[in-house]
Amino acid sequence: MTEQPMTRLTLRRPDDWHLHLRDGEMLKAVLPHSAAHFARAIIMPNLVPPVVTAEQALAYRGRIEAALPEGARFTPLMTLYLTEQTDPKDVARAHAEGIATAVKLYPAGATTNSASGVRDFDKVRGVLETMAEIGMPLCVHGEVTDPAIDIFDREAVFIDRVLKPIRRKVPDLRVVMEHVTTQDAVDYVRDSNKNLAATITTHHLIINRNHILAGGIRPHYYCLPVAKREGHRIALVEAATSGDRRFFLGTDSAPHTDANKLLPCGCAGCFTAPNTMSCLAEVFEAAGKLGQLEAFASLNGPRFYRLPPNEETITLVKGAPVTYPTQIETGVGSVTVFDPGFALHWRVEG
Ligand code: NCD
Ligand code: ZN
Repeated sequence: MTEQPMTRLTLRRPDDWHLHLRDGEMLKAVLPHSAAHFARAIIMPNLVPPVVTAEQALAYRGRIEAALPEGARFTPLMTLYLTEQTDPKDVARAHAEGIATAVKLYPAGATTNSASGVRDFDKVRGVLETMAEIGMPLCVHGEVTDPAIDIFDREAVFIDRVLKPIRRKVPDLRVVMEHVTTQDAVDYVRDSNKNLAATITTHHLIINRNHILAGGIRPHYYCLPVAKREGHRIALVEAATSGDRRFFLGTDSAPHTDANKLLPCGCAGCFTAPNTMSCLAEVFEAAGKLGQLEAFASLNGPRFYRLPPNEETITLVKGAPVTYPTQIETGVGSVTVFDPGFALHWRVEG
């Protein structure tokens, strides 16, 4: 008997281990899209001003909870934005009291709202040592900011120049390399035996740099780290669909208004919250690995963060192409939803 193609897939409810929810009107408009499919998310702290202290994280968490739609069950897991002034005691308190799950390291100037990030990595050594002691993960934006380094090489150079020295000096620090985009990062994570994992975004599994630059410039595909060559995308798909516990989903859904994307100097970020699960099912199915989607989206992340996987499930159903809005309206302007460039056949039931 030939095997029937799969048309329904039930998995434990997924989590998003890297998410930008913003604040105010934008938060209100984008949060329901994540809360519809995901149980928990690691919330990025790059607001203006950034979420630096335990007190600020607590207040921001309150604003997120207040913006949740009626009846939604969604837990924001907060992060603290690491600065050279961060107090290790405040970080330890935030962790002990369940206010913050992780700390986020932005090299100063690497991406959106990263001006208050770290310039001299030795200045944050005390915080990193405290985090290693208490087992609190560091989420790393892994790109150097040296203008002499080509933007397509910034992740690979970061591994050698910054990440390896940090991990040598603080070997017990638990690190998540966020939104990896290169074969180099995949290899580095695979070669390390402990305390290192990586998130992979939805869009980096789908686009390469041609999608941004060939046949006209497509600002909605511009994000940081910028998508690389096709060979790197293939390496990411291989890692994500392999079942390897060190790789898990962090969508990096990063909404910006169309007005801010479509400028002579437009913002970086892809907004994937509404159609991420449909996109992922399509990618995993094309790779012949639908059976590994649960590991990537629902199991590997909680394991690294030492949290139980969700008890609830979601079901993806395959059928006629899914329709979803190309844009959502927010109180501050429209935001374009990520276009994978192919039809999506899997929808989240319910
Ligand atoms: C993110 C944002 O807009 O906050 N942008 C992006 O392109 N991913 C910041 C980030 O995660 O680098
Ligand atoms: Zn991000």
